[in-house]
Amino acid sequence: MFVEWKDELSIHIDEIDEQHKEFINRLNMLFRACQTGKAKEEVSDVMHFLEDYILDHFFCEETVQSILKYPDFEKHKKQHDDFVETFIDLKQKILSSTDTEKNSKLVKDVLINWLIEHIAASDKAVGAFIKETIDGRKKITSL
Ligand SMILES: [Fe+2]
Repeated sequence: MFVEWKDELSIHIDEIDEQHKEFINRLNMLFRACQTGKAKEEVSDVMHFLEDYILDHFFCEETVQSILKYPDFEKHKKQHDDFVETFIDLKQKILSSTDTEKNSKLVKDVLINWLIEHIAASDKAVGAFIKETIDGRKKITSL
């Protein structure tokens, strides 16, 4: 199963949408690498890339939320922090196992599903808030 980017996943903030596309792209690469039993180096490379990417991406989202005083910031940040912990835990599991079926299932069931659900619910709410806040400010400055 490969996850495709769909317009329904757009949160209508271009920079964050682009990061989500890359996030999905890299998770698909990881899924494929695990599924085909590619060399451990390849799985390990993608996982290391993802670890940095996830931290940068979450930091970017959290910075915007913090600047705009997003009311659910703490709740959203907790979801990110929990995911980072899950990712690190899963990284150890995947890198120490040769069970390709189990590894690819973990990537799909845990990482890919989390990201899709997180974007569809939590990030979309942030996107709507950002738009509302920016539009509100534009109105004030045009008065
Ligand atoms: Fe998020």
